[in-house]
Amino acid sequence: MMVAELKQQVLMQKASSTRTMKRISNSFHGTSVGFVPTMGYLHEGHMSLVKQSLSTCDHTVVSIFVNPIQFGANEDLDVYPHDLEGDIEKLESAGVDVLFQPHRETIYPKGFKTYVQVDEITDQLCGTSRPGLFKGVATVVLKLFNIVRPQHVFFGEKDWQQLAVIETMVRDLNLDISVHRVPLVREPDGLAMSSRNLNLSAEDRQKALSLSRSLEDAKEKIRQGTTAASQLKQSMKDRITAESGMQIDYISICDPISLQEIEEVKGRTLIALAVKIGSSRLIDNCIVKD
Ligand code: PAF
Repeated sequence: MMVAELKQQVLMQKASSTRTMKRISNSFHGTSVGFVPTMGYLHEGHMSLVKQSLSTCDHTVVSIFVNPIQFGANEDLDVYPHDLEGDIEKLESAGVDVLFQPHRETIYPKGFKTYVQVDEITDQLCGTSRPGLFKGVATVVLKLFNIVRPQHVFFGEKDWQQLAVIETMVRDLNLDISVHRVPLVREPDGLAMSSRNLNLSAEDRQKALSLSRSLEDAKEKIRQGTTAASQLKQSMKDRITAESGMQIDYISICDPISLQEIEEVKGRTLIALAVKIGSSRLIDNCIVKD
């Protein structure tokens, strides 16, 4: 019998307390542990992170925790989609070793006072319109790293800025962890996979295709020789607002590492955008001149 088949027959362990999770992590001593933090409602994008961990590490831990401190007051914390049973089924059949699913009070007990703030790269893009987002993300991710104690962690490039924040935190705080970047996964029609797509009406889902299409248009214009960021941004804006009810949060053409805006596309460049459609805020990005 193949090792992968054998692995799928081992029951996935579940932990909700820090103590249980740490006990399981201790039992993995001497082996490589991969970790995929998520907020649940798993789709193929998440599963591509899981698959990469499974093929890189001896053991894979996935967490599901909808982190309240990364949501602003008027954001979608209360309507964030969930499907625990479906998630468990997906993780079990993929061969994940452990699901860590802590309660809110486990992560933020009464009297919790310590936060992680990564400067500068959190001032642009999503950090502008969602001011507490990355403080919340960095804080919960560091806590999860300390509880799970992985050597390898897997994050998707769909959340490009989040990845940059995690990489910076890992470097600055001397964490012995390899951060693996996993490419963005799209639906067959080009829409970037996101748990938040669930909250789109059929009409809004159709309109949401303008995000990936505007990125494709920009790529094509760059291939044909356009370099001025302002021109590229304007045509992306026109493409998106041709649909009614689209509220552009930002369109950024920037350096993929510093996330500083650039005026001319010369070398490797990140094009990223966030758009509100109805009550959903979607993000997407691509790299050009790679
Ligand atoms: O990308 C997410 O799902 C979340 O921001 C994360 C990394 C699980 C932290 O809550």
